This record gives sequence, C-alpha cells and structure tokens, in this order.
Amino acid sequence: MTIMVLVKSLVPLFASLAGVVAQSATANLTSTGCVDVSGFESCQKDATAKASDCLATARKDGSELEIEACGCANYIDNINCAASHCWNRVNECEYQKYAVAYLRNCPIAKTPLPYFPAPDGAPDACSCNLGKVFLAINSTIQQGGKCSSSTGGADAFSNVQRIQGCECCEVSGALSSIYGLCPDTDPKLIGLSDVSNLEGLLNTPFDTCSPYMSKFDCVSDFGFSPGTIHTYYNPSNLPQSGTATLSNKPGTVTAPASGSVFTYSNAANSKIDTISAAGGGSGSGSGSNSASGTGAATGTSATATSTHKSGAGRTALGRGLAFFVLGLVILALP
Ligand SMILES: *[C@@H]1O[C@H](CO)[C@@H](O)[C@H](O)[C@H]1NC(C)=O
Ligand SMILES: *[C@@H]1O[C@H](CO)[C@@H](O)[C@H](O)[C@H]1NC(C)=O
Repeated sequence: MTIMVLVKSLVPLFASLAGVVAQSATANLTSTGCVDVSGFESCQKDATAKASDCLATARKDGSELEIEACGCANYIDNINCAASHCWNRVNECEYQKYAVAYLRNCPIAKTPLPYFPAPDGAPDACSCNLGKVFLAINSTIQQGGKCSSSTGGADAFSNVQRIQGCECCEVSGALSSIYGLCPDTDPKLIGLSDVSNLEGLLNTPFDTCSPYMSKFDCVSDFGFSPGTIHTYYNPSNLPQSGTATLSNKPGTVTAPASGSVFTYSNAANSKIDTISAAGGGSGSGSGSNSASGTGAATGTSATATSTHKSGAGRTALGRGLAFFVLGLVILALP
C-alpha cells in the first residue's frame, strides 16, 4: 500500500499540459483581410527567413535545444506580425488557435501574449474562446498536481482515496473547461484528446470517477478553483457534446484594442516585445481599416515592426519536442 501511495502521488507531479497535448501541425496565419496585408506578408516572410537561418545554425551545432528555440521564436515572430499588421483579426479562431499552438508546442512558452485570450464579447471573435479553454485546462492540471502532492497523512488507505479524488477532479475539471466554456462546440475540436491523454497519464479513466466525485467536492475538499469552471461534472451528469464547428462571430475590430503602440513582457525569452499597430490601408475582406473612434491607429502605413530589447539567456528546454518543432519550421519554410 505504501508503494502504491508513493506511485500515485508522484505521477501527477509530472502531468503537465506539455505532456498531454496531442501535437498537430499548426496552420500558418493568413494575410487575407488583415488591416495591413503587405506589411503582414513581408513580416511573415522575414520571420520565415530568420527561422531558416536559425535552423541552419542549430543543425550545424547539432543542438536539439537550438532547433526547438528556433521553432519557439518563429511562433513569437508570427504572433508579433499579426499583432502589428493584422490586429483587426486577432479575436478570430485562426489567431487564437495559433497562440494556443504556440503555448502547447513550445515548452518555454508563457503568457502574456498579445490579444490572448480574446476578451468576452469581443467583436469578430471565435465561436469558442480557445484561449480560455486552454488556460482553464492547463490550470486544472496544475491544481491537480498540487492537490495530489499535498495529500499526506498517516492513513494510507485514505491517502489513496484522496489522491484518486484529486485525479478525478483534475480530469473532471479539464472536461468541464471544455463543456462549460464551449457547450455548443464539438469537444474534439477544442482539446478532448488532451483530456484522453491526461486520463491515460494519470491512469484515471473518467468513467471510473463516479464514487470519487460523489465522495469529494473538488472545490471545498481539494481547493480546486471554482473560477471559470462552474461545475465539476461527474461521469453521470456530463452534458451532451456540442456539435458545432469553429467559426467567427459577427463584428469588426476597427482600432487596435491594445492601442497603437504597446509592449508586452515575453516570459519565454525574457524580452520586452514592442508592438506598433499598422494603420493599414490595404486591408480587405471582413477586416475594417477605418480606425474610427479612438484614433489609436495612426493612419500611416507605419512600419510596425516588433523589436526585441534586453536579451537574456535562454531558458533550459528539453522536453523531446524538438523534432516536432523542427517539423513545424520545415513546414513553414518555402
Ligand atoms: C501551465 O501550467 C504550468 C504549470 O503546470 C505553468 O508553469 C505554465 O505557465 C502554464 N501555462 C500557461 C500558458 O499558463
Ligand atoms: C506556411 O507557409 C509557407 C510559405 O511561407 C508554405 O510553404 C507552407 O506550406 C505553409 N504551411 C502550412 C502548414 O500551411
């Protein structure tokens, strides 16, 4: 029994979202409808060229860490391109999905990221707030790890029960993040496979969780957050799955929501990224370039580059994702 307690209590410590995500190739960000189409395209081209140089060096060095870092930097560069030249489309599924892909696939990735997650009620927003779902699942996994590791007492049997309870709450919270935030969306499109992987990793199929979900209250017994997850479902009251695909809701972003110039502290590389929003001029399609109201957009087709300041050392990586990121970068190369 003691051994079992030990094993049960160690496993969740290693369950991070990076370990459970189903990795899939990420589509590129597209320029169609961007407020500054040509600026976006040249920014993206520069990012690809930079990634290609970066990769060549990394390959010469034979360094997986460098390869991974090239992939991470390429994501960030593209995100900055969009924030600068395509701020009118940042609430859409495409950008939000891309930001999620960065957080999933790059081991050193962290928030904050520009325009992520989309705020509630934002115009032209994705029908499911992908960023919120992702962050809710990630946070649930974090809480599950804490819960399991803080369980310790003299009674081995009750420890095992509680740890199993923690793990059921963790899986339940991940499912509830999906069903609670986007009840209409087909769960398979927004992270259901992550939950399956989590069940496998914790060796806790959700359909075995009924007794634990009845015995324990995830919030009051274990300190799980009530936050965005209002109901920790149990296997018997899990709602019907939604069937909707992802689409963008109506509305138009007419001025960069974060202002014409803003900085964000990029936790992944310890840099301060400066985003200058392009005034546009060549936007087309659903995106508006009218920049009415706030006057935040400058009206000039400004250069809108993002600059890196204060470089600092690279964080140690090494999660074995390198070959995957490499695949991504290769995909993105012309
Ligand atoms: C996800 O959770 C981990 C801890 O498990 C945390 O270190 C990381 O910053 C979180 N990621 C995001 C994007 O919030
Ligand atoms: C991404 O864009 C490049 C061109 O920059 C293209 O060659 C590649 O096929 C695209 N990748 C995907 C996954 O669409």
